[in-house]
Amino acid sequence: MRKYRVAQVGAGNRGMTHVNGFLALPDRFELVAVCDLDEKRMKERLAGKNIPTTYADAERMLAETQPDVFCFVTWPSVRLDMVKLAVKYGVKGLAFEKPMATSLHEAATIRDLCREHGIKAVVSHQQKYLTSLQRVQRTATSGDLGQITHIEAHCQAHLSQLGTHYMDYIMWANGDHRAKWVVGHVHGPKMLNDSHPSPDYMLGYVLFENGVRASIQCGYLTPAYMNKESFWCDNRLTVYGTHGYAWGDTEGRFGAFTRTSGGEILSEFGPGYDPSKPCAGWATQERSTLQKLYLAELADWLDDDTRVHSCNVDTAYHGYEVLEGLCISALDNTRVDLPLDPAKCVDINDRMRRELPALPAVK
Ligand SMILES: NC(=O)c1ccc[n+]([C@@H]2O[C@H](COP(=O)([O-])OP(=O)(O)OC[C@H]3O[C@@H](n4cnc5c(N)ncnc54)[C@H](O)[C@@H]3O)[C@@H](O)[C@H]2O)c1
Repeated sequence: MRKYRVAQVGAGNRGMTHVNGFLALPDRFELVAVCDLDEKRMKERLAGKNIPTTYADAERMLAETQPDVFCFVTWPSVRLDMVKLAVKYGVKGLAFEKPMATSLHEAATIRDLCREHGIKAVVSHQQKYLTSLQRVQRTATSGDLGQITHIEAHCQAHLSQLGTHYMDYIMWANGDHRAKWVVGHVHGPKMLNDSHPSPDYMLGYVLFENGVRASIQCGYLTPAYMNKESFWCDNRLTVYGTHGYAWGDTEGRFGAFTRTSGGEILSEFGPGYDPSKPCAGWATQERSTLQKLYLAELADWLDDDTRVHSCNVDTAYHGYEVLEGLCISALDNTRVDLPLDPAKCVDINDRMRRELPALPAVK
């Protein structure tokens, strides 16, 4: 078991979760430097954490520290330039945030650069380490649901916020089989000007190569299971089989009706759930467990080529491709067969900005 030197860009809200995750694994990682454009805020946030150096320039940090692992936690518009820096400074491991890019072309370029330069890269779809979602995946693969037929994901937040997470979890619950074709609907241009460009609503239907079908909804028409304060946690993954179903949500709840559940529906809250605090289950689990599990697997993969991380960049690319296909299907009014050729895909966000009509207010 080796210990890896890490340098990180981004000490914003999410960046601090990565910082704390690396620091929580002192046997596996040494966080040697952090960089942020907002140096004052970074220094305040890192106070007392014993991180040797801080920078305001990512390239200078990489040149001077020569880390094994480069982590960047920046807005979606800052991706490819950081990956090029990872290549230039020869890192072994790369960890970055979802969405993995803002166009399929960029996503493919990132995937190809990582492949060509032997960089083990992971994209933060770390909610799959939630106990609730782990239980769904285990139930789905145990045979207790019979043969899996359909998987459904619902997210209140938009495609490039939570849709990218839950498409990844659909594929994970389905044993990482590839999608064959997709049919999608999108509408509403308002969120296309957000830092996470997305249509206001997306509804998608996917057939996987193993015959399993999936549907996904993200955005304002998606059914809500929680109150508005829990918006970011109101995401649900449900797996249906010939003999039952199992569901889990970001808040930590799990329910199932299976061959062996005696006909009862089981439902319970995950560790740390506090119903008086919105998103409490997720927040507690994330702080204590999720990021550690996610980063520990990166160290395991760096140690051993056969222990490929479940959030690896190839899987993330396929999830991105499926979502892109859904948007193309919606705009072209047709079924879209995969794989897509990134060289033939125009910037889908630009196209949706041009083509999606403004929406009347919902009555
Ligand atoms: N996986 C998850 O569950 C999850 C949760 C929240 C956010 N995120 C993702 O994390 C990413 C960052 O979100 P956030 O909320 O932390 O944003 P943020 O604005 O709080 O932080 C981003 C930080 O990056 C810094 N930065 C940007 N470009 C830089 C550069 N070139 N050099 C140095 N520093 C730079 C900014 O100064 C800022 O401090 C987004 O892609 C978001 O989708 C993921």
